[in-house]
Amino acid sequence: MDLIFPKDFLWGVATAAYQIEGGWDEDGKGESIWDRFSHTAGNIENGETGDVACDHYHRWREDVGLMKTLGLKAYRFSIAWSRILPEGRGKVNQAGIDFYSHLVDALLEAGIEPFITLYHWDLPQRLQDDGGWPDRRTAEAFVEYGDIVSRVLGDRVKNWITLNEPQVSSFHGYLDGRHAPGIKNLHQAVAAAHHLLLAHGKAVPVIRANSPESQVGISLNLHKVMAASVSAADRANAYYEDGRINRWFLDPISGRGYPLDMVQAFRTGMEFVQKGDLELIAVPLNFLGINYYMRGISRSTSIPEEENSPQTIFYRDEFTEMGWEVYPEGIYDMLGRIFFDNNFPAIYITENGAAFLDDKGPEGEVNDLPRLNYIKRHLQQVHHAIEIGVPVKGYFVWSLMDNFEWAYGSTKRFRLIYVDYQNQQRILKSSAKWYRQVISDNAIV
Ligand code: FCB
Repeated sequence: MDLIFPKDFLWGVATAAYQIEGGWDEDGKGESIWDRFSHTAGNIENGETGDVACDHYHRWREDVGLMKTLGLKAYRFSIAWSRILPEGRGKVNQAGIDFYSHLVDALLEAGIEPFITLYHWDLPQRLQDDGGWPDRRTAEAFVEYGDIVSRVLGDRVKNWITLNEPQVSSFHGYLDGRHAPGIKNLHQAVAAAHHLLLAHGKAVPVIRANSPESQVGISLNLHKVMAASVSAADRANAYYEDGRINRWFLDPISGRGYPLDMVQAFRTGMEFVQKGDLELIAVPLNFLGINYYMRGISRSTSIPEEENSPQTIFYRDEFTEMGWEVYPEGIYDMLGRIFFDNNFPAIYITENGAAFLDDKGPEGEVNDLPRLNYIKRHLQQVHHAIEIGVPVKGYFVWSLMDNFEWAYGSTKRFRLIYVDYQNQQRILKSSAKWYRQVISDNAIV
């Protein structure tokens, strides 16, 4: 049976500045923590950097043309903060503003709705030198930056995402050090998470004032977490994992404050939370953005396997190149849970997609059936969620084109469009052609 999506459903793709733009030091752009991190030996697979990436900084017209070919209704992209404010605050770089302003105009002309992410992890290095996200002043700097961007683009851009995945930028950036700025300190990570949320809460009203009638939200990476068995230890572990990844961010933005079990588990002290912060963080949003990729099965390591209950569940034998399990039902579960528990007025899937190895065939074609099936199966679940009343307003494939996958460099290909990094040639994969059809039918057939 054909699955028809609601009229006005927004079909999109998502990207992030550091992953596609290149032009890392061009036209007055300042250094970001990702520039510094990737230029430091040992941080990125094969010693790669995002210096050139997909060269989108120069090829953006061609890329908007490709988006038009796909019939996209929306495009989610991020702004490189240090292109606008090379030092993080203070002096504005007009060339940076012009770049994004031209991009927005070209998108609108192509009939594509721009969704701007203000922060997709590339903090200006200068702000990191002054303390980074663990320092409260970074939240102030973010409001200054958000104010400038929404003032210059807010007449044309009506959809704003303050932060992408604050869980990743705080915990991978400041706890396990796998991401920039590569710090390993739990207290800094928890403080960073708080100041990210504070930055979000303070920026929302500023964006709304500059861009009347705009829709403002935040994108969280949410995992479906399941206990491996009914044993008390596995369930406790799953609750902890859910707290660490999901509730630590969902609860404060839903006005519930930080989950107490996690405050106790982190044991870092929360002295950086000031009076009034939680009210600011709980600012009502127009939508929640969900980035969904996988399920996590939580098994307690503290008890030997045989003591676990016999009803143990295992991962399906279906993984992407990232080692992430393919579990489409999880997107349905998360949509239902979040809508009925947290009650956001609207939800977008702001990222979903899969890395698989794909190579060019003899005719130069790229047949990426596993990716196509991944997206199709997740969309079927999104459709089920809409049927039970969850107000999902749009879906963004991660990503438009192969790009710089953070610490993995170019080794992981996630996207609808193949990029030949030798000559920057772009080739529509089978998944892209299929997605074009889905958009034009507004349905999965
Ligand atoms: C998400 C990020 C995005 C991309 C995908 C694979 O966590 O937001 O930039 O790396 O994962």
